[in-house]
Amino acid sequence: EHVHPASVAAAPVVVASNRGPVSYRRREDGSLVAGRGGGGLVSGLSSIRREGDGGSEGEGGAAVWVCAALGEGDREAARAAGRRLSTDDTGGHHVRMLDIPPDTFAAAYNGIANSVLWFVHHMLYQTPLEPVFDQHFRAQWAAYEEYDTAFADAIAEEAAQGAAVLVQDYHLALVPGLLRARRPDLRIGHFSHTPWAPPDYFRMLPDDVAGQLLRGVLGGDRAGFLTLRWAEAFAACCADVLGAEVVRDGEGRAAEVRFEGRTTRLGVHGLGADADFLRERAHRADVEERMAALRAQIGGPDRKTIVRVDRTELSKNIVRGLYAYRRLLEEHPQWRGRVVHVAFAYPSRQDLAVYRDYTAEVERVAREINAEFGTEGWEPVALHVKDDFARSLAAYRLADVALVNPIRDGMNLVAKEVPVVSDHGCVLVLSREAGAAAELGDEAITVNPYDVEATARALHLALLMDPGERAERTKRLAAAATALPPARWFTDQLRAL
Ligand code: G6P
Repeated sequence: EHVHPASVAAAPVVVASNRGPVSYRRREDGSLVAGRGGGGLVSGLSSIRREGDGGSEGEGGAAVWVCAALGEGDREAARAAGRRLSTDDTGGHHVRMLDIPPDTFAAAYNGIANSVLWFVHHMLYQTPLEPVFDQHFRAQWAAYEEYDTAFADAIAEEAAQGAAVLVQDYHLALVPGLLRARRPDLRIGHFSHTPWAPPDYFRMLPDDVAGQLLRGVLGGDRAGFLTLRWAEAFAACCADVLGAEVVRDGEGRAAEVRFEGRTTRLGVHGLGADADFLRERAHRADVEERMAALRAQIGGPDRKTIVRVDRTELSKNIVRGLYAYRRLLEEHPQWRGRVVHVAFAYPSRQDLAVYRDYTAEVERVAREINAEFGTEGWEPVALHVKDDFARSLAAYRLADVALVNPIRDGMNLVAKEVPVVSDHGCVLVLSREAGAAAELGDEAITVNPYDVEATARALHLALLMDPGERAERTKRLAAAATALPPARWFTDQLRAL
């Protein structure tokens, strides 16, 4: 009853991403139930409806969001709806879910996107043993090509003459090039929500694959990044691997890449927090309830809280964050019994063994700290692994310190969300390797994410900061964090195209 087909008029705007705005699962009674898709991307693109609906004079076409069916529920919903589906749960978007064969999808998503491209751009390999580019890799690479081709075919089918197409992320790096070959009339943009690897690291990829990925993105008219640093790294890879020409603007910033007679413009769009949505959402009853529960768990009204909220993701550096907290308790015994580290580590990519192992390690270290320091009535680490957005917001509101210490991160929205909803001001301890540091670095306490001693020191300073300075900094952080709200982030790119 939730799923029905959407009209099929050619779309003036097409967005493509691996994870769409909605996902389906089958309930015990057999009906399909929709939930909002996860990931920062979904909130970033939630403005498409307003934009897409207005931009279709005469033709009556609405924007279409092309995404992959991620599980059996999605596949069933896609089959039930036919070519496109539209439900209240998709936020009114017209969604085209691609029913890609499960083995192909798994090889492309788990194998290439999350085990190779994610690792390369976040520089996560332990290089004495990995990566190994052998025949298994080649089979997965063929699946990735197939998966990107399915997207290019679907977009080519959905897009109106001259339509604007916004292709998202490392899952779909080949799509701009494939799509241009099919539909030279389209205006095509690619956006990377991750960092981009510097050439010395990117060159680990087999030469032909490295070249294909860069040519794929350069198939678009624009390549967008969250910070200048990632745009520069991309341009450097194009120059290094392809011998492409990089054109700089008046201030010396990489602005265009010219290759084989075509020009791709580079854009920097630092996705910000959605202040209106967050402030409203953070004051609903379910959040208030969770605040009460968290307060009870933290105990003692004078106890301070250090909060972190992440997917349990290798790049988020949760384990070193726990080490730093342990060092804080060792070096500054005055905090024992007076602080609680509230850590939300939500399950992610559990099909991959390294993610499962990492999750287990996070749990193990948290237990160890509790065993070593915990007392009757004081649990030093409160670790939560069950995803709960309302509870995350509750923690944002209560936090005295927010720890955001990724090894490397495209942007990191938690760093931007906390100051927006904070009740009494919150000190941000922020990794200098997060894209957000380019915008928030002046008001946060920045750290080298590998330096556990320095991170422990930063936590200590953060806990000591006087309330006046803390409140002032939080105000300035919130202003910087909301400078480019998701709706504008989206329309800026559409206009630039
Ligand atoms: C990052 C990526 C997104 C992805 C999200 C969640 O933010 O840039 O493309 O959707 O992580 O990861 P998942 O693998 O669960 O989609």
